[in-house]
Amino acid sequence: MATLRPVARWIQPPAAVSAALFLGAQLIRPPLAHPPVTADLEAPPAVKAILRRSCYDCHSNETRLRWFDEVVPAYWLVVRDVREGRARLDFSDLGARPAAGQRAALYEAVSWIALGAMPPGQYTALHRDARVTPEELAILKDYLRPPRDGGVAVRSAAAPAPLPRHVADVQPAPNGLGFPSGYMDWQPISTTERFDNDTLRLIAGNEIAVHAIAEGRVHPWPDGATFAKVAWIPSVDGHAVRFKQVEFMVKDAQRYATTEGWGFGRWLGYDLKPYGADAGFATECTGCHKPMKKNDYVYTLPIKTLPGPDDVFNAQAALPDGLTFDPLSWRFLTTSVDESASTMTTLYANGPALQHARSGAPGPYPAGAALAWVTWARREDPHWFGARIPGPALAIERVTVSASADGEPSYAYDRFTGSPAVKSPPLDGTALRERAGALLAEVPLPSP
Ligand code: HEC
Ligand code: HEC
Repeated sequence: MATLRPVARWIQPPAAVSAALFLGAQLIRPPLAHPPVTADLEAPPAVKAILRRSCYDCHSNETRLRWFDEVVPAYWLVVRDVREGRARLDFSDLGARPAAGQRAALYEAVSWIALGAMPPGQYTALHRDARVTPEELAILKDYLRPPRDGGVAVRSAAAPAPLPRHVADVQPAPNGLGFPSGYMDWQPISTTERFDNDTLRLIAGNEIAVHAIAEGRVHPWPDGATFAKVAWIPSVDGHAVRFKQVEFMVKDAQRYATTEGWGFGRWLGYDLKPYGADAGFATECTGCHKPMKKNDYVYTLPIKTLPGPDDVFNAQAALPDGLTFDPLSWRFLTTSVDESASTMTTLYANGPALQHARSGAPGPYPAGAALAWVTWARREDPHWFGARIPGPALAIERVTVSASADGEPSYAYDRFTGSPAVKSPPLDGTALRERAGALLAEVPLPSP
């Protein structure tokens, strides 16, 4: 103080005034309720212990305040966090939800921890014991992983697909977003397997989104960029079969300023029933997409050859050099997972093949049609615990149809493996007929 220059001294409130303000502020204490614990989360003790220590202060009715939390202004921040934390996720009544709902909340919790979004950084700075160590995160993941790390745990039997309905009379989402039709003709940017809710998914982008990916202009995504995420329920053998829902994110920074610049919409089932009672449904979407703020709220890692940051693009899954065709620029027909091989496969069709497959016309594919199966080793999604995404491509198989002299279509089959891709020795006779036949027999996934 003695070194303070006189001019600075008069703006410095006398110590006594500061102390009085500080003490006076202590009297402004918004109350923090401690309602009874009605239905505490049910989980093994090791799992509970971690959540209790790291999360329960804000996400349960059993908040423990340390002495330094009781001091204003820290106390004001704590009360705000606890109120908001309980409103979002309350372990004290989670046990009342159905088992699937409890698990879904835990998958979300684990993903938020893994992304470093929870517990909040400013909280762990003071409450160091609340940090979740990598070993503890592994305990939480092991608890949630399906038995034998087996992927999609409970599969529903294949159901015949009812006829798709006309999209023209689909109701808009409660926030006014109209149903974007034609999404099955957009370019696929990834396929994912969600073992937390037993679905296989296609993520496709419209032209603006696909250009933005090619140019790496994704911070932020340009206005007009639109993603579709289509979910199917798989059959026992890992093939996607039954349409569940389609969701969209439409970028318009101004129009959708209140929902992080994206218009969200979800339509359920073959009758495409808009999800949500009112426009407030979108806070559910933004709430869960929030940890991806650094990627402009987008979770998916589009498959793309570098250059590009590897927490934005999935370069591992890019196809190897040496292919003379690019099935990833074709369109999507169907997807499946192979549990025992731990692989995921997506079937792509070029223009003529797509047209034929979608038309439902009987008979063989026309000349000019080409189909390709791309099989990837699957890997855990770094953005979402409970999802698997494509890892390195293991094999690319292709059937091309051409017209032969006698007017009958003839088929050529080839298979590429390795990086750079090397063509496998040709198959002959029965082996050829079987493999090419299997490819040509794949049916496009039902979608309204
Ligand atoms: C200091 C208080 C605090 C602690 C400790 C804390 N959280 Fe949170 N949490 C919040 C607040 C506040 C929000 C809502 C604001 C936000 O989304 O950032 C939130 C939001 C969440 C959400 C989003 C819920 C939703 O659906 O919107 C999840 C999941 C979550 N927390 C999980 C956890 C987990 C798991 C832990 C423990 C490892 C934890 N939190 C520890 C305060 C806390
Ligand atoms: C519990 C978390 C959660 C909620 C709630 C959620 N999403 Fe997502 N969303 C994800 C994850 C994880 C992905 C990554 C793709 C996947 O499913 O494997 C994703 C991906 C998407 C995508 C593809 C683009 C991208 O960001 O990767 C769209 C479109 C989408 N979600 C729409 C919605 C809409 C619309 C809602 C609300 C009705 C919603 N989401 C609510 C977790 C969530």
